[in-house]
Amino acid sequence: MEIKKITILGAGTMGHGIAQIAATAGYEIILRDIKDEFLKEGLDKIKYRLNRNVEKNRMTREEADEAFSRIKGTTDLNEACRDPDLIIEAVPEDMEFKKGVYREIDPLCPEKTIFASNTSALSITEMASVTKRQDKFIGMHFFNPPQIMRLVEVIRGVETSDETTEIIKDLAKKFGKTPVEVNDFPGFVVNRIAFPMINEAIFALQNGVATKEGIDNAIKLGLNHPMGPLELADMIGLDVLLATVLTLYEEYRDSKYRPAPLLIKMVRAGHLGRKTGRGFYEYY
Ligand SMILES: NC(=O)c1ccc[n+]([C@@H]2O[C@H](COP(=O)([O-])OP(=O)(O)OC[C@H]3O[C@@H](n4cnc5c(N)ncnc54)[C@H](O)[C@@H]3O)[C@@H](O)[C@H]2O)c1
Repeated sequence: MEIKKITILGAGTMGHGIAQIAATAGYEIILRDIKDEFLKEGLDKIKYRLNRNVEKNRMTREEADEAFSRIKGTTDLNEACRDPDLIIEAVPEDMEFKKGVYREIDPLCPEKTIFASNTSALSITEMASVTKRQDKFIGMHFFNPPQIMRLVEVIRGVETSDETTEIIKDLAKKFGKTPVEVNDFPGFVVNRIAFPMINEAIFALQNGVATKEGIDNAIKLGLNHPMGPLELADMIGLDVLLATVLTLYEEYRDSKYRPAPLLIKMVRAGHLGRKTGRGFYEYY
């Protein structure tokens, strides 16, 4: 099957970025969020980033306008599910919430539609189990910011077919990304390794090992990372980070994944990082 029309659920941090790269690659996109204001915010960010690409001579004005015109925003779930070849889901990182979304969209979508979750760590097999299309259910894990990061983890659930896997790997390449196929284990490859490091950086801050700038500089200069772990935490979103670390902790039942109390406290205070203007750093 050839993918032509793609619906993206969620216009947040990841959803709008995925919409931008998919539209730039020539696909017809429906971007769906639950409120007009969230949709507008996502669409405004796409427009801003496409304009920046024109200013920096990465694309022509015509290409940017064409890409933007391929994205249709909607809050109507029926419209979003009417005829897509693929749904990429980028709604909040909560298993029960995501399962609720899949239960809702499964009967609304045509049989051909592939479901791809952008989950950071949750079980693809468990999400697929609430649908009648387990063979057409897969993980398509983009990294933040999706416009820049080159990797897409392609995660096979227990019942994911070879055909679905090949279609999604091929699509990732058409988006200009490199797919890496992985099996369905919590956190997959990258987050299983990277998130405990970010969590440990928050423990180090909490224990007074160094200042936030000191921790970030040490990792940037000592390990040659482009960003420090606390800056990265703010970019990911502390709610998303906590949800993912909790998934690792609960699924592996291993104390090495225990979330730092400071991370829990910041999420409770609503200091979620860049998206709320305040996390470990301030963004006003
Ligand atoms: N933030 C990251 O760095 C990152 C990286 C890779 C993967 N992810 C994963 O991507 C997913 C989304 O994360 P995010 O950071 O973009 O979250 P976010 O909170 O920025 O955005 C989620 C969006 O989904 C919308 N939404 C809620 N219910 C919806 C529904 N039923 N239909 C359509 N939209 C709905 C929300 O209104 C919100 O705009 C999560 O599974 C997360 O783990 C996040």
